[in-house]
Amino acid sequence: ILILIGLCLLSYILGSIPTAIWYGEAYHGVDIRTLGSGNAGATNTFRVLGKKAGSIVLFVDAFKGFLATSLSTFLFYLHLIDWQTCVSLKIVFGFLAVLGHLLPVFCDFKGGKGVATLMGMVLALHPEAALVSIAVFLLVFYVSNYVSLGSMIASLVFPFLMVFKVFGDEFPILIYFGFIVAFLVIFMHRKNIARILQGTENRMYLIPRKKQ
Ligand code: G3P
Repeated sequence: ILILIGLCLLSYILGSIPTAIWYGEAYHGVDIRTLGSGNAGATNTFRVLGKKAGSIVLFVDAFKGFLATSLSTFLFYLHLIDWQTCVSLKIVFGFLAVLGHLLPVFCDFKGGKGVATLMGMVLALHPEAALVSIAVFLLVFYVSNYVSLGSMIASLVFPFLMVFKVFGDEFPILIYFGFIVAFLVIFMHRKNIARILQGTENRMYLIPRKKQ
């Protein structure tokens, strides 16, 4: 039980690493929370600090979720837990990492929106479903030019794939988890939703437009 508490804490601390804030401060001398959308995430880093910074933040934020979720797989391979417990613990550790990203202990509990970390988590939890969600994200982003809309719709893809058993029978816990997290992601985007409805949401282009 002590190992379990330790791993829960570790997952939350991993998720708490405020990549966008630290990268912005270290390499550009800026506080990302005061620029662009003000969000401490990969999208805003792309927007404000460019492709290289955005890609690094995206990778690290996703890796935090992937690593925390995979802690459970280590326990399984060490024969400490069975497969069903492994899936449940993946959800617990991954969820704590996403929570850490939303409410980071290192910066007054004000973090990002959890999308990249959630993507890393789902990649470790259910790679096939993660790939479908990423494809949906890219499609919605490409068509609408809104990253936020892509993120929200992609977060809903996972629970629906589980409900309709697209990949066969799944543990019911994946469905509950999927809907709770999708709700959380949409809630974190409440200001984006208001901006989309007002037509003032930031547009970004998946394929950069040629300068006129
Ligand atoms: O991952 C966050 C994204 O969906 C929206 O970010 O900066 O446009 O609020 P942003």
